[in-house]
Amino acid sequence: DRYGVIMAGGGGTRFWPLSRISTPKQFLNITGDDSMINDTIKRIKDIIPPEKILIVTNKAQEKILNKVVIDDIPRENILIEPVGRNTAACIAYAAFVIKKRCGDAVMGVFPSDHYIKNTGEFQRILRAACSVAENKGKLVTMGITPTFPSTGYGYIKFDRDKSIPAEEKSAFEVVEFVEKPDVPKAKAYLDSGNYLWNSGMFVWKTSVILSNFERFLPRLYRKISEIEPYIGTAQEREAVENIYPTLQDISIDYGIMERAEEVVVIPGDFGWNDVGSWDSLGSVFPPDENGNITKGDFVDIETRNSIIYSNGRLVAAVGLEDMIVVETSDALLVCPKKKAQDVKKVVEQLKKMG
Ligand code: GDD
Ligand code: MG
Repeated sequence: DRYGVIMAGGGGTRFWPLSRISTPKQFLNITGDDSMINDTIKRIKDIIPPEKILIVTNKAQEKILNKVVIDDIPRENILIEPVGRNTAACIAYAAFVIKKRCGDAVMGVFPSDHYIKNTGEFQRILRAACSVAENKGKLVTMGITPTFPSTGYGYIKFDRDKSIPAEEKSAFEVVEFVEKPDVPKAKAYLDSGNYLWNSGMFVWKTSVILSNFERFLPRLYRKISEIEPYIGTAQEREAVENIYPTLQDISIDYGIMERAEEVVVIPGDFGWNDVGSWDSLGSVFPPDENGNITKGDFVDIETRNSIIYSNGRLVAAVGLEDMIVVETSDALLVCPKKKAQDVKKVVEQLKKMG
């Protein structure tokens, strides 16, 4: 069997003020004609049928999820986390649910908030990834050719000489996985030509990922095992509510991928963009002749390479260069493009202030 897990519990805090805790990026329509989560479902459902697609989200987003998500996902496939404990916990919980439903299965893990231009090529890579995961028992990643020294991604060093045929594609052995390196490291990786960006999508067998949890995150594994007997019963929600807050808050990238062996990567250039922060809109929407990306009501005078995003009021930008201005009804963001990653600090600060 093939299952899909869509991780939809992230805060999308770098898209503040458009994204909020109750309506993070994945539920917004930023890049296409539908919400990012529905675009994700539509992209994978030729390969993984909707009745085998699980969505993991948190309590705060349950309401909007029920409103937004397309109908062919059965309600029992929506897993609710009482508190966010990052992607490792989310994936471990989903893996136990799949194991309970059908034993060992191939499990694809997908972020809910990415933009992919070329669906056909993406699907060829996903099919190849499923085949390597199933037949070789590997932890399969999908790698994107890096274009700038981003510190917001994981980097995957691969061995060009060690390939495994995978349907129409090839998977390569991974030498090293480095999550979110600093700038000097990111620059060196980019220059070396031997690294790919981690797209954040993974494919593996439930048995394989669970044994990696047992080995590298044993406490988290043991804790989630306590939920296992209740999965699919009336007590599941209560068990999850009790155990989740005690789980370690760590991403799958730091927790497993940096440490695991048996990792492979399938390089894939399918027009991927994680639209992780305001400055990334530049590679989704074509900028105008001054390099600006604009939405809504604005005037710009001698403004270059900037993002001007208005959701109502008129925004006037005079002499701006490499800036981001985002207007919503109750908040305004003004930020140099090079600080776009730090927008999440605003949300942290606001949380502290209550
Ligand atoms: N259910 C659930 N619970 N989902 C979560 C949680 C959680 O606690 N935390 C994050 N997610 C979801 C987010 O909504 C997103 O869809 C996905 O998991 C990835 O989380 P991010 O927080 O967006 O990760 P990232 O962008 O910093 O880094 C990851 O993605 C990069 C590519 O976009 C890593 O895998 C990097 O290595 C990778 O390069
Ligand atoms: Mg992300």
